[in-house]
Amino acid sequence: MGTMMRGRAAVVTGAGRGIGRGIAIALAKQGAAVVVGDLGASLSGEGTDVQPAQRVVDEIRAAGGEAIAHYGDVSDFEQGADLVEMCVKQYGKVDAVVNCAGNLRDRMIFNISEDEWDAVIAVHLKGTFNVTRAASIHMRERGYGRIVSMSSSSALGAAGQPNYAAAKAGIMGLMWSCANGLRKYNVTANSVMPSGVTRMIDSTPRGRQVHQETGNWPSEMAVGTEGDPDNVAPLVVYLCSEQSASVSGQVFHSTGYQIVRMEMPRFVRALRGTRRWEPEEIAEWFPRTLADGGLAEPPAAGGFGERLRAMSDEEFSELADGVLFWRASNV
Ligand SMILES: NC(=O)c1ccc[n+]([C@@H]2O[C@H](COP(=O)([O-])OP(=O)(O)OC[C@H]3O[C@@H](n4cnc5c(N)ncnc54)[C@H](O)[C@@H]3O)[C@@H](O)[C@H]2O)c1
Repeated sequence: MGTMMRGRAAVVTGAGRGIGRGIAIALAKQGAAVVVGDLGASLSGEGTDVQPAQRVVDEIRAAGGEAIAHYGDVSDFEQGADLVEMCVKQYGKVDAVVNCAGNLRDRMIFNISEDEWDAVIAVHLKGTFNVTRAASIHMRERGYGRIVSMSSSSALGAAGQPNYAAAKAGIMGLMWSCANGLRKYNVTANSVMPSGVTRMIDSTPRGRQVHQETGNWPSEMAVGTEGDPDNVAPLVVYLCSEQSASVSGQVFHSTGYQIVRMEMPRFVRALRGTRRWEPEEIAEWFPRTLADGGLAEPPAAGGFGERLRAMSDEEFSELADGVLFWRASNV
């Protein structure tokens, strides 16, 4: 048992499976009392099952930790708030909230239905809002809090996930707003783009192909490897702890055993006039000014993990045995 979360109470949504499960268990191992929130939905967000949340609670208790289950749907305003209220009622407060609940309905923008759009926005973006809003009321009153929400590198433009990309980009905006709005109450808010071989990865064409070829799901084979979803938990525990007091409004990427801090959007070119521009003038000046040096492509969503793993150890400096560090040259 660690002590980083001793005496703290935490809510984790989507904690019955995958990345959220690992985070709930890791928080409890560091001494937190944890509300394990999980509706027990299918990957597309349908159905309910109390077992995933209950199994995690049993596992935490069997290891000597403290946890209770909540089976509500975070996309419902009242059930999202009820999850937080359960924590306050049971443990007297809510010190940390981790938003992990998620579903997938992958489509291209031209064939996505209204339902597929709504279902994904509802769980990820509205669900993160529902739980965060309810928790922020208690955190503001007590002058302490930690909010961590799962974004995704898909936010940066995954072509087959317009709903998911929009929700995950929205979550970053929501966390930036919370970081600014709650700073003076000693509440931090951060986003994490996680990765872990969970059922979300099993559901991809590549995941199904691996299952066909080997008889095993990628998620089963990932246990104990760099692909293990539990690898995300240590960063999240740190962000939920007192020790990360000065870390807020940040976006991190967690891939394998690497923890990456992403850069904030920043100005790169500015064209200033002395009066309102005419469109023809913009057309004339644009290529030589704002597009000077070429326009950046939208970020390659989903490619970060691969690119990071492809970087050789030689590109990193060795800070200690087994601790390698890299920083971009222009920042
Ligand atoms: N796995 C990855 O590589 C990856 C990459 C980027 C982002 N993420 C994000 O990380 C989070 C966790 O992903 P995962 O791969 O562990 O997924 P998962 O499917 O294994 O777990 C998600 C859990 O959320 C629960 N859930 C779904 N809808 C809910 C609702 N309305 N209310 C309450 N619970 C609900 C499900 O029952 C499930 O147990 C998600 O937000 C996901 O978008 C995952």
